[in-house]
Amino acid sequence: MTTAPAFRLPPGPRAPRAVQGAAFAIANRHIMFALHRRYGETFTTYMPGFGHAVVVTDPALVKQVFTADPKVLHVGDRGPLGKVLGPASLFSLDEEPHLRERRMLLPPFHGARMKSYEAIFAQEARKEIAGWPQGVPFATLDAMMRITLNAILRTVFGAEHAEFDGLRRLLPGMVKRGSRLVLLQPLQRDLGPLSPGGKFLAQRREFDGYVAGLIAKAKADPDLAERDDILAMLVQARYEDGDELSQDAISDQLLTLLVAGHETTAGSLAWTIERLRRHPEVLARLVDEVHEGGRDLREATIRETQRTRPVIGGTVRFVMEPFALGEWLLPPGMAIIVSAALTHADDRYYENAAAFDPDRFLGVKPDTYTWTPYGGGVRRCIGAAFAHMEMDVVLRTVLEEVELLPTADRPERTVFRGVAFAPAKGGRAIVRHRTTPLSAESGAVPATVAA
Ligand code: HEM
Repeated sequence: MTTAPAFRLPPGPRAPRAVQGAAFAIANRHIMFALHRRYGETFTTYMPGFGHAVVVTDPALVKQVFTADPKVLHVGDRGPLGKVLGPASLFSLDEEPHLRERRMLLPPFHGARMKSYEAIFAQEARKEIAGWPQGVPFATLDAMMRITLNAILRTVFGAEHAEFDGLRRLLPGMVKRGSRLVLLQPLQRDLGPLSPGGKFLAQRREFDGYVAGLIAKAKADPDLAERDDILAMLVQARYEDGDELSQDAISDQLLTLLVAGHETTAGSLAWTIERLRRHPEVLARLVDEVHEGGRDLREATIRETQRTRPVIGGTVRFVMEPFALGEWLLPPGMAIIVSAALTHADDRYYENAAAFDPDRFLGVKPDTYTWTPYGGGVRRCIGAAFAHMEMDVVLRTVLEEVELLPTADRPERTVFRGVAFAPAKGGRAIVRHRTTPLSAESGAVPATVAA
């Protein structure tokens, strides 16, 4: 006769689920920090959408979670995103099916390919910045959302002309509605054309129609093999058995890339602006660096912004089989949250962690288990290099094109926007357009990619 294992959970509040759930719904970040102070680096709580969850912040345990057998820790079957993004989305899959789809998506995200996107990022940034008002405050988040949407439509969807305009009109509203449905799962059901679920499905059908059009155009394109966009690569990709991706699978993956990559990158950029306006000495050094053609401090600044203001606060896994985590033994059904927000803010891992100090990453590669804005292991963000390159190019272009005026205002609070956390006032900025270009590179877009 086998005896059931004696599960051992980390400490945590004993308040009823409804109370804990309501507290999280109202003040997610504050509650996380309060529980961390009260119960220590590993604690158990109840979170809406995830149920009973163990929150992990110690790098040794973070490593255990990120390197665990994918059979033991899942995401797809209970993760909230997959339901909205479709059954072929990476967020809906686990184990071998997840690895199979991920292998298909990885090649377009490799370094050399990213290089070909640089000019598109710069072009979209310059176009947007040219319209920024001078001398009056505005929310850079909206501007960054437009840049990252246009960049994804061109580099990921390969969209131009009618499809580009159609998707630009459709997607902001569709992603907003989809993000709300991620959190409010009962509303996902289609209860007729006027219900939230029904409206989302109608938008999804329209989206699928655009993608079908783009796939048909790509298949008929005699220059398909020369194209750099991700849709063109997915149309040509083959599984190991020689099968091609179905139209539905391509549609799910493109929506996944958009939802995962649009608001996250825009939010991180808006936070970078918010931080730099409050750290004029770093801002001045960055401007000098652009002038001299360097990038090391800019890269360190992006990493430090992601450390101090991670737009995705934590990464989730669900326990499928009894899982030994440090001194604890977790039962199937529990969620594990690897909290980037808490680890990043811990003085044990970052000296004077509350300070915004990009120099800590100058010439230093961030550590895999204490710097986790992109999660980790076999599910680590597939778009990390894409996002990093885009943020680097957009920030460089901002510094080239405008003077960003410092501020003595208080730091902006953090708000949750459905997919990601963002600065509460949208990363407000006041700028002056430069009359002379800051660097020799300014204004130059290679002729091969000019739209
Ligand atoms: C600053 C920007 C971004 C941040 C902070 C971010 C963060 C994350 C995080 C935390 C995860 C979960 C990782 C895990 O479970 O271990 C993730 C997954 C993912 N991200 Fe990103 N992301 C960003 C940009 C992007 C971009 C630009 C794309 C694509 C264009 C993208 C595509 C994905 C995909 C497809 C996954 C699922 C990976 C899988 O399950 O295998 N992300 N991202």
